[in-house]
Amino acid sequence: MATGLVRRPDSAGAPPAEQVHLQFGADASTQVSVSWAAPSAVARPRLQLGPAGLPASWQVEADERVCTDALTGVTAFTYHASVGSLEPGSRYAYQVLHDGSPPVPGTFSTAPRGRSAPFRFTSFGDQSVPAPVGRGCGPHSPNAGYVVDAVDRLDPLFHLLNGDLCYANGSDAPVATWASYFGNISRSARHRPWMPAPGNHENEAGNGPYGYLSYQTRFLLPGNGTPAHRGQWYAFTAGPVRVVALNNDDVCLQDGGFSGIRRDSVPGYLADGVDPYVRGYSGGLQRRWLERELAAARRDEEIDWIVVVMHQPAVSSAHFNGADLGVRQNWLPLFDAYGVDVVLAGHEHHYERSHPVRGVAPGSSLLTPAPAGRPVGRRHKPAEIDTRQGTVHLTIGGGGHPYSTPARRLHGPRQGIVIAGVERGNPLVQRRSVIETEPADWSAYREARAPYGFASFDVAPAEPGGMTSIAVTYWGASAGSASYRPRDRVVLRKPQRSAWLPGRDLAGSRPASRG
Ligand SMILES: [Fe+2]
Ligand SMILES: [Fe+2]
Repeated sequence: MATGLVRRPDSAGAPPAEQVHLQFGADASTQVSVSWAAPSAVARPRLQLGPAGLPASWQVEADERVCTDALTGVTAFTYHASVGSLEPGSRYAYQVLHDGSPPVPGTFSTAPRGRSAPFRFTSFGDQSVPAPVGRGCGPHSPNAGYVVDAVDRLDPLFHLLNGDLCYANGSDAPVATWASYFGNISRSARHRPWMPAPGNHENEAGNGPYGYLSYQTRFLLPGNGTPAHRGQWYAFTAGPVRVVALNNDDVCLQDGGFSGIRRDSVPGYLADGVDPYVRGYSGGLQRRWLERELAAARRDEEIDWIVVVMHQPAVSSAHFNGADLGVRQNWLPLFDAYGVDVVLAGHEHHYERSHPVRGVAPGSSLLTPAPAGRPVGRRHKPAEIDTRQGTVHLTIGGGGHPYSTPARRLHGPRQGIVIAGVERGNPLVQRRSVIETEPADWSAYREARAPYGFASFDVAPAEPGGMTSIAVTYWGASAGSASYRPRDRVVLRKPQRSAWLPGRDLAGSRPASRG
């Protein structure tokens, strides 16, 4: 247990455990971590666990992780306990506690083993918090609260957070913002893992060498082989689905982590060389890890679906941020080579879905993804897609941030927006993006009327004839409304992995298969 210089408290009158949330380990059928926080250090933090309906039969001591925010000097105290060797497809009940406080209960289900049972997961990004925190500098909206209940009503096995969780980097009270965030999602996230990919607003300049220490302190995620980058990129398996989470700040051209309040108020910001523009910070480590992960997933005959969750999108027709050329340069060749089925992103505060895409449109200097297996320019909405043709990109960034992308800021039906470069700058002045436009033949559906929302994914691992499918539904709501209704539906369907050869698409072209 890492205690640092923190004085152990007397247990009498200890503050209660709060912000309880779950994460899966690399194998979601057997491994779960429980995390929580307390307003000050606590004694003997622990997890008690057992099969649902029975008395808790196991106890696991929790590790303490602390992080002191560079802006405010406030320390966050977090606690994490992991369990493995659980039974697949099983229901468990647990409680977290420490000396002098009442236990806080929760439940979860492990993922089914292999293709043995269907399950559902959900996803959105860009949530924020439901009410002002501190001086109210950070974003907040009622929908950031409503979406938690909307997700929970669907009872997913797990939820994917596509980055920009609580926007603590824009708040004068970042530790309280995180507390508000977990306080809001915990009513769902203590009953099912909410698995995050970091977004640009998880970069809190001055917190750790690259700004992510606060985020890293609060989550216990599957390992990636590099402890210094823990939680930045990772993967886990649920049934026949391999989920790969990435940190796109590593490759993006856009200067998205800049925060005026941190520049102006973090002590030593300039003298200590703090710079939120961290493009290339992994030195290629993340890309090499990604290629190994994708190659292994594609070799694995038990994996039918590869789902990537990340923040900044590879395609966008919103005049808001734009797709980032850095994402296209670094990730899309790998997504093509290893046949990634679905990419989930956020950053643009709306919903947009692409046709399956593979390769680059002829003559495109912006690496515009080419629609694959569908006639270019047709405007009908496909009911069913075989993702062996190409990768379907979903931008689901309407989790709750109040600056949603209104209809007037969506460009024409065939115009995509691309961040093609970044102007020179420094840690004191946010670098400006160089924006270009492109034909958006990749765009299949854009939601202009219901900017707040999330998507659900119903995985059917074993359909008749050796087929498998994922039914995708986008649930949208208008601003201030708690009513999330289906707005877009599409079914992804293909044969199970054992029935097709890796690296061969339906068009007969053969991507660079190295796996
Ligand atoms: Fe955002
Ligand atoms: Fe963002």
